[in-house]
Amino acid sequence: MSNVNMPITIGRRKVLGGAAAVAGAAALAACGSDDNTDSASTTTADADSSGAESSGDGGLLPDAASIAVGGGVVMEAVKTVVTHPADGEYKAFSAVCTHKGCTVSDVTDNEIICPCHGSKFSAEDGSVIEGPATEPLASRPISVADGKVTLG
Ligand code: FES
Repeated sequence: MSNVNMPITIGRRKVLGGAAAVAGAAALAACGSDDNTDSASTTTADADSSGAESSGDGGLLPDAASIAVGGGVVMEAVKTVVTHPADGEYKAFSAVCTHKGCTVSDVTDNEIICPCHGSKFSAEDGSVIEGPATEPLASRPISVADGKVTLG
């Protein structure tokens, strides 16, 4: 009986402080469990990896504004490249090169580049700019809402 009353007489500050600490720890634990790694730079690849395995319907990308005009983001785990060919315009394509199946590596000056044999594809429509690939990258559905790019 007296033990039940003890925590109440300690005061709200300690109780609330403890709750905040628990909430903070839970938030940190949640972040850690999503990553499965200790590096922020690998978070996207790792999260994408598990997303690709479990959901298969795409995922939320970084802020749209973080993708430079003329550039793009390659999401290896979901084999998708998101491009930003013009201000406010975003496109998504399969990141699997139509030549021999390598994953494209980069988007520069509105060109999606395959590192294996040098094929280049248009960041606007996925068409071949330079071979050896002869077929375009397949287009993928994409939407932008509240500054976030979402696949699917
Ligand atoms: Fe991409 Fe050959 S696999 S250019």
